[in-house]
Amino acid sequence: MRIAIRGFGSVGQGLAEVLRDEGDRIRREESVDVRIVAAEDSSGSAADPDGIEPAELLEAKSEGPLASGRWTASIEDVDYDVLVEATPTDVEGGEPGMSNIREALSSGTHVVTSNKAPLALSYRELTELARENGVELLFEATVGGGMPLINLSRRCLAGNEVTSIHGVLNGTCNYILSRMAVEGLSYEQVLSDAQELGVAEADPTYDVEGLDTALKLVILADAVMGLSCSYDDVEVEGITGITQEALRLAGEDNMKIKLVGTVHDSRIEVGPRLVPSDHPLDVPGVLNAATLSTGLAGDITVTGMGAGSIETASAILSDLLSIPRA
Ligand SMILES: NC(=O)c1ccc[n+]([C@@H]2O[C@H](COP(=O)([O-])OP(=O)(O)OC[C@H]3O[C@@H](n4cnc5c(N)ncnc54)[C@H](OP(=O)(O)O)[C@@H]3O)[C@@H](O)[C@H]2O)c1
Repeated sequence: MRIAIRGFGSVGQGLAEVLRDEGDRIRREESVDVRIVAAEDSSGSAADPDGIEPAELLEAKSEGPLASGRWTASIEDVDYDVLVEATPTDVEGGEPGMSNIREALSSGTHVVTSNKAPLALSYRELTELARENGVELLFEATVGGGMPLINLSRRCLAGNEVTSIHGVLNGTCNYILSRMAVEGLSYEQVLSDAQELGVAEADPTYDVEGLDTALKLVILADAVMGLSCSYDDVEVEGITGITQEALRLAGEDNMKIKLVGTVHDSRIEVGPRLVPSDHPLDVPGVLNAATLSTGLAGDITVTGMGAGSIETASAILSDLLSIPRA
């Protein structure tokens, strides 16, 4: 399987690390040779039709931009079976991921992506484009990092109707609220710590205002519940207004305050919610959790790392390995 990776940051490099470290085992156990033939960052691309060793690619990236001349070919010069799209999420139009995905699907290339915006903005159009061209568009990595939710619902829960989803889907928010509750610190203190530790971005707006959770919910609502919805349909409230006093009062009643995303009765909402202390959604730190309520199997809750380069690469790898091979 020849893959091209567009976006060679944390997630793209995580996938290369997994192929470097686990490639032999994957070849042996899955009978598939996942070969990187091109990788692209914001400087341009590096490509070789015979494949680039992941270790060499990672070394080159650690030394500078990919388009620095070590490889003379570029992504346009090589054929590949699957595009791995891992460029930054941009909710204003979804570029460059939107164009990358449209172009690949239109030319009959499978797509595996971790980029939320194109799916959250144009789910129907992109899935229809994949169908028309007889290729796969897979996106487990867009929601919940390493936690299997979309494939769990489509494969293991096949035949079940998912009637509602409740999820703690943003590790940054969960980290902030958990530390505020446990250590009695203010929002500003914990945010500043989280930024130093790399748990929160320098500009945390996208996470703390609930936008990241909203994008993930739209994808889940479409992919898991078959709702036709868009990002604009979500009622969103973030965590910036949560005070230490509110958390303390909740604690007195043995409750936590979590940023919870809900899809229920065709309504999609993100906001701070009270969660009982022993509830399955009461996960600590950067962990994520999501409960799918199903018609036949009851409630299924998955907990795990909602982000991280290797964890997200795990979801991408699982999508790659699920693509039917000729
Ligand atoms: N990190 C996670 O744990 C995680 C989890 C789930 C989903 N995601 C999603 O996965 C995607 C990638 O995340 P990330 O954490 O890997 O981001 P990142 O570390 O910021 O990496 C983004 C990569 O895209 C490259 N890039 C930027 N603009 C580009 C363009 N126009 N053309 C080609 N490449 C371009 C960057 O180039 P440079 O290297 O030159 O800057 C960088 O290599 C995002 O959509 C994110 O929301 C991330």
